[in-house]
Amino acid sequence: MCGIVGYLGPSKAAPVLLSELRCLEYRGYDSAGVAVIESGELVVLKAAGKLSNLETLLTDKKPTATVGIGHTRWATHGIPNDENAHPHTDCTGTIAVVHNGIIENYQALCAELTAAGHTLVSQTDTEVVSHLIEDEYKKCVLECNGDALLVAIERAVKRLEGAYALGIVSQKHPERIYAVNHNYSLSVGLGDGESFLASDSVAVRQFTNKLIRLEQSEIAEVTVNGARLFDFNGTFIDRQAIEVDMNPYIISKDGYRHFLLKEIHEQPISMRQTMGKYINHPDKPIDLRPTENGGGHFGNYGVNLTETQLKSIERINIVACGTANYAGMAGKYILEEICGIPVDVEIASEVRGRKPLLNDKTLCIAVSQSGETADTLAAFTEAQAAGAMSMGITNRADSHLSRITDNLMVTECGIEVSVAATKSFTAQVACFYVLALYIAETRKLLPPAEIFRLKQQLLLVPALQERILSQEKIIQQQSIKYAEAHDMLFMGRGINYPVALEGALKLKEISYIHASGYAAGELKHGPIAVLDAKVPVVTIVVPGKVYEKTLSNAQEAKARNAQMIAVATEGDDRAKGIFDTIFTIPQVDELFSPLVTVLPLQLMSYFIADYLGKDVDQPRNLAKSVTVE
Ligand code: G6P
Repeated sequence: MCGIVGYLGPSKAAPVLLSELRCLEYRGYDSAGVAVIESGELVVLKAAGKLSNLETLLTDKKPTATVGIGHTRWATHGIPNDENAHPHTDCTGTIAVVHNGIIENYQALCAELTAAGHTLVSQTDTEVVSHLIEDEYKKCVLECNGDALLVAIERAVKRLEGAYALGIVSQKHPERIYAVNHNYSLSVGLGDGESFLASDSVAVRQFTNKLIRLEQSEIAEVTVNGARLFDFNGTFIDRQAIEVDMNPYIISKDGYRHFLLKEIHEQPISMRQTMGKYINHPDKPIDLRPTENGGGHFGNYGVNLTETQLKSIERINIVACGTANYAGMAGKYILEEICGIPVDVEIASEVRGRKPLLNDKTLCIAVSQSGETADTLAAFTEAQAAGAMSMGITNRADSHLSRITDNLMVTECGIEVSVAATKSFTAQVACFYVLALYIAETRKLLPPAEIFRLKQQLLLVPALQERILSQEKIIQQQSIKYAEAHDMLFMGRGINYPVALEGALKLKEISYIHASGYAAGELKHGPIAVLDAKVPVVTIVVPGKVYEKTLSNAQEAKARNAQMIAVATEGDDRAKGIFDTIFTIPQVDELFSPLVTVLPLQLMSYFIADYLGKDVDQPRNLAKSVTVE
């Protein structure tokens, strides 16, 4: 979604801002803009559409300014056009603001500002901010002994309701950029005589490994010499920059046609890294506690739940959206099977407005690749407010989620660029196995030999994934036969039901083919009505408790002439008798099968979408992290 960047230093700002914005493209956006201070004058350039449109404007105007802010906007308030693109200025045209998040009381502020004689030109909630600062600045210049602009920003932001991050420049102070964070994410990067700003630290990490993260309700005054931090009352905050590991955040396709394909292939490594961090050896107890250096992460990391707390959990409540929600559903099967603790999985956006039925014996787990998804964060904070213990599973230790819980499992996937989640899904599911085994160890729920066996099985999974990935060419040939389908059904039972949902989601996200996932047993209760010879049905069927029943459900579809596709185990002769196409997977324990069965489905979606010429990495209408509710 929206992205904020900034630069201040000896170089020309425009190319740096563009390069930072390019790193944020993956988050999804529909317009982009910059504000630079060119020979003492504020210049704003912005354009709807892709970054290339902004690049054309910058190539025309060739600004030489060395200070500026930039933004990619994903429209929420007002259509994606030039006018609504950020930055937004005040009436004097001297203050420019870029903004992520929502100003919830913008309509009241807009009415007040308009009545006071301000002219607001966009439909956005953002524009009120520049006008509020304008008003406060006028007053502060007369009243304040201190720094008028800083005090004006403090006063203006105190009037805002909602969660937001802001980047601000004023032509009166071309030597500074201001950054404001309130329940959002914003980082300052410190280089040698230059400073950077970005809402996603990925954009800054290409230039420097020294980062300062703004915490809740903080303002940073950024100059070429560093950043001074204040709270909203102007109290100075002493915080030093942290040195971070830049490697996992290098954005590169590494020779792959698309990020999505690269990320599908990265799963064995991200799984090994994620599990390896917590499981040293199957013989040793799992350790989720924080490591001294924060695991090399920029942000909080580690699980601080005490043994008493872990033993007191009576119920687990998982909140998440999209793919992370399906990882959570797999987590339910895993936790219930291994720990025998009842688990509910909630679509995070469905939690708002409902009576919270949680208490201090409930562990609420938020699962979010980005750690920034507004719906997930809202549900999570409601659970915390209801007194539940809380824990996050995220790929971004520097995210907002990491700020609001002391218990964080981090998936070691490196940056996931493609909008459609793949490697984060398997790594999140891997975290659930690790967590379940950790709880089982702590609560002595299983004999040590059984826990040892399960750990061993889990650690073998990346090698099984590698075997599937090595069959990529066969999967490609098998998949594109179905590229002309208009509808596709996915079904699985038990622990592979969430995989069916994820398979369907992947296909619709990137190929735009309508697809639905079902619990295989539900097919006969409705979905079977849509089946005919034109509809491919994908069944996930692995040996185990639900094998026979799943095959029966597949027979029901076959009897309706559906095109029959399966994800099934090598050498499964019964499957061969039912399905037209089989994506074969190696033998795997049913309990661990989601980590394997999902791979052919990811590849199938990828090959179909690519065959159809779709924008695989940045599908239409989607954003990588959705930071509004
Ligand atoms: C967006 C993305 C999905 C993702 C979901 C949750 O809708 O397009 O791919 O699964 O957000 O994202 P999160 O970062 O919370 O895992």
